[in-house]
Amino acid sequence: MSSWIRVNMYKTHNCGALREGDQGQSVTLAGWVNRRRDQGGLIFIDLRDRWGIVQVVVNQEQASQAHHTASTARNEYVLQVKGQVRVRPEGTHNPELATGTIEVIADDITILNTSKTPPFYINTDDEAIDESRRMQYRYLDLRRPAMQYNIILRHRIVKYIRDYLDGQGFVEIETPILFKTTPEGARDFLVPSRLQPGKFYALPQSPQQLKQLLMVAGYERYFQIARCFRDEDLRGDRQPEFTQLDMEMSFVQREDVMQLNEGLVLSLVQTIVPHKRLLAAPLPRLTYQEVMEKYGSDKPDLRYDLAAVDVSAIAAKSAFPIFQANTAEGKPVKVLRAPGLLRSKEDQDKAISGEALKRLMKELEDLAKTAGAKGLAWMALPLNEAEEVKGPIGKYFTVEQKAQLFDQVDAQPGDILLFMSDKRETVYKCVDLLRTNLAERLNLADPDLLAFAWVIDFPMFYWDEENQRWDPSQHMFTSPLPEDIPLLDTDPGQSRGSQYDLICNGYEIGGGSIRIHNRELQEKIFPLIGQTMEHARDQFGHMLEAFEYGVPPHGGMAWGVDRLSMIFAGAPNIREVIAFPKTQQGADAMAHAPSYAEQKQLDELYIQVTIEPEEAEQAE
Ligand code: AMO
Repeated sequence: MSSWIRVNMYKTHNCGALREGDQGQSVTLAGWVNRRRDQGGLIFIDLRDRWGIVQVVVNQEQASQAHHTASTARNEYVLQVKGQVRVRPEGTHNPELATGTIEVIADDITILNTSKTPPFYINTDDEAIDESRRMQYRYLDLRRPAMQYNIILRHRIVKYIRDYLDGQGFVEIETPILFKTTPEGARDFLVPSRLQPGKFYALPQSPQQLKQLLMVAGYERYFQIARCFRDEDLRGDRQPEFTQLDMEMSFVQREDVMQLNEGLVLSLVQTIVPHKRLLAAPLPRLTYQEVMEKYGSDKPDLRYDLAAVDVSAIAAKSAFPIFQANTAEGKPVKVLRAPGLLRSKEDQDKAISGEALKRLMKELEDLAKTAGAKGLAWMALPLNEAEEVKGPIGKYFTVEQKAQLFDQVDAQPGDILLFMSDKRETVYKCVDLLRTNLAERLNLADPDLLAFAWVIDFPMFYWDEENQRWDPSQHMFTSPLPEDIPLLDTDPGQSRGSQYDLICNGYEIGGGSIRIHNRELQEKIFPLIGQTMEHARDQFGHMLEAFEYGVPPHGGMAWGVDRLSMIFAGAPNIREVIAFPKTQQGADAMAHAPSYAEQKQLDELYIQVTIEPEEAEQAE
């Protein structure tokens, strides 16, 4: 990290920058008291600034005034220290500090500001600090070195992206925050207009429409580090406001957009997190069909294999009534092989035999039930091949069927085979949940591995049973693959979109598509997704009109900057890489947003609140 400094009246050097080569230098430092140890005649202060920590020594005999000041200083006081750099005496080096071979002998100390005792320790990376406290005192939380690392890493990612895209001829263009609905599948945040009473702006769920209009406007290569707003349920990888790297390109096909983005990913990894390993480069490309069948998810964690195998053919021949009935109805039977759960003799005897095995299988079955499965069948292969296969369904398979089955799923002694059979969607959900759970149990996800991959050939639509219509799997501007356009008239469910998603370690990092630039095609999509042309014109008339003025073929993509930063930082959720995130309840715990508006403001906006505060508190 840079130790750049402009010498001014507060500082001549940064705390973290001093080294043995600075021996004898007179320095002025300024920072916070990270820790103070009072040994009577000697007081040691670890002084911290953004660049690191340095030990300051205050000797009562040599600098009595400074010693007196130091004796009154407490953790998080803001100090200015003047003194000399000295190499630490033999045996007192601290290998944990970058400055650990030197110390600063203080001549003069000024207290620039005092501090109340912080509600938690700043000087530890203790993840055990209660998160609600961290959110309430976010400015103190952000002072912790671990948080500073994350926030600065994020800055470096964004800076690199900007420079890279600039070098590729992209122009950064800001698009409005007060706009009209841009449907990306979530609820809009609405902002009432004072000047046009009764009307509302919608905050952008993404700059999708505007970036397409910038292609109409002839910019050809646009990008933006764009704030997006989506009123949806929060999760570890979702915030109501988040940041996208949003881009759009003209005169491109799917391959062009993917190549450009792949170049950016590889170069980002190499520059920002060179200590991490890429699973594969060039990035693997998997079809939607393939990932769903193997991993039950369109964003599988590919750091570990654990792929489900379709064993319907053998299962149909077994004597197990459920498999017989399900396969007759076209429902699949899939096996997930949990490798090595019984691999050591000790495990088998102690941890995983008898009661422990039953308990484990009950836990896994309960998990499968949360995915809608009715149960979870299993077979456990003992280490000693002469022993019987354990589990409730072994007896329904003949010896030959078992041999064939084990061969198909490559089962090894010590493995547990989990069988799922249900509606295809339920099986997918089960595979996904069990796979993730097994990876945790078996500790398969290497934190230093980055398993980036592309997922392509998504279906254009998903069937919405409730509303009896097709829903776009991405958004209504996504073009079908050219060869699938005729299917829109005959079998829309079979048509594939020109969409591509970038996934990494179980997260969707980005997604995009080639857009429809042809009016007839766009007009075909609206009725399929249950939109009348009138409604479409009301919502997107500006787009439809713009598209009549020479729209180039175009496509683009958006990445979740928060998610990417989280993965690069090795953080457990995106709140760790956002300076001021919202809590699970969508609140800012520090400033107490959202909050009630004053009556005067409501009156100006012609807004009447129909819920009483007490009722509202209960509804939260
Ligand atoms: P999409 O909706 O897939 O595509 O969003 C792109 C990426 O943004 C991130 N993301 C989020 N991150 C944090 N919190 C959220 N609530 C959240 N929602 C999405 C994800 C996701 O992959 N306009 C299209 C892109 C395009 O077609 O060019 C779009 O917004 O990492």
